[in-house]
Amino acid sequence: MAPQIYRIQFPPYNSEQLRQDEVSFKLIEDGKPQRLRFHDYAAIYKRPGLYEELFYGRLRCNSPVKVMELLQRALQTAREPVTELRVLDLGAGNGMMGDVLKRDGVARLVGVDIVPEARDAAYRDRPTVYDAYYVADLATMNDELREELSEWSFDCLTCVAALGFGDIPPQAFFNAMRLIQTGGWLAFNIKQSFLDAADQTGFSRLVRALIFSQYFNIHHLELYRHRLSMEGTQLFYYALVGRLTSPIPDEFLHTHGIE
Ligand SMILES: C[S@@+](CC[C@H](N)C(=O)[O-])C[C@H]1O[C@@H](n2cnc3c(N)ncnc32)[C@H](O)[C@@H]1O
Repeated sequence: MAPQIYRIQFPPYNSEQLRQDEVSFKLIEDGKPQRLRFHDYAAIYKRPGLYEELFYGRLRCNSPVKVMELLQRALQTAREPVTELRVLDLGAGNGMMGDVLKRDGVARLVGVDIVPEARDAAYRDRPTVYDAYYVADLATMNDELREELSEWSFDCLTCVAALGFGDIPPQAFFNAMRLIQTGGWLAFNIKQSFLDAADQTGFSRLVRALIFSQYFNIHHLELYRHRLSMEGTQLFYYALVGRLTSPIPDEFLHTHGIE
């Protein structure tokens, strides 16, 4: 069956003043227009290929490839094979990062997303990518889920295009980091302003606290073009890869005044 092509219409007005989670586009389906926000993930994932067409086709997202490139480089320096990695992919969506990880042959790959439609789409469109996929909010993880996830003995956390802006909150990212073994890798991307001291959002403070802490060593930090805006403006993000050097204490968020 030929893949469905969607008619996506960007608005006539300039969207640059809107917050990223407020940005919307028009989808014309069976002749009927409807407005979808970029963050209407459930509605987007339900339509096979729409996420790819919007973010990767039209807006040229490059983040999974870039984060993977830096992770590969760090592993090469450490002389560790990618094939032994046991990866937790947080905010996995329909599996774009998972696809890249699997192509390089990681040993285990487990996805987590808060939206059930993300798991459905990953199983529908990339059925061979994830060993398991949990629909869960790691910010409020119960002991049962923590134990189940711990059994995978993760030594790598990936999180791509999913941190901040009404997406993954600091507590969920923190809980995910604590599922990674000491010596394991973190590979993620963040908006450029998150490293700016003027940005006092919880997530931005968490990333800065982590970078300057004794619990984490940066191996690669690179500013790169994450994707285009609807106006064609280049959106720059940092891709960051590093290694957990010792267990992060329970009180880390509290100590840094992060909620
Ligand atoms: C822009 S998508 C990125 C998906 C994928 N990582 C990629 O690179 O294409 C962001 C994903 O984060 C997920 N997300 C948002 N908040 C979350 C949370 N608290 N816990 C887990 N996933 C979350 C969303 O449901 C969405 O699937």
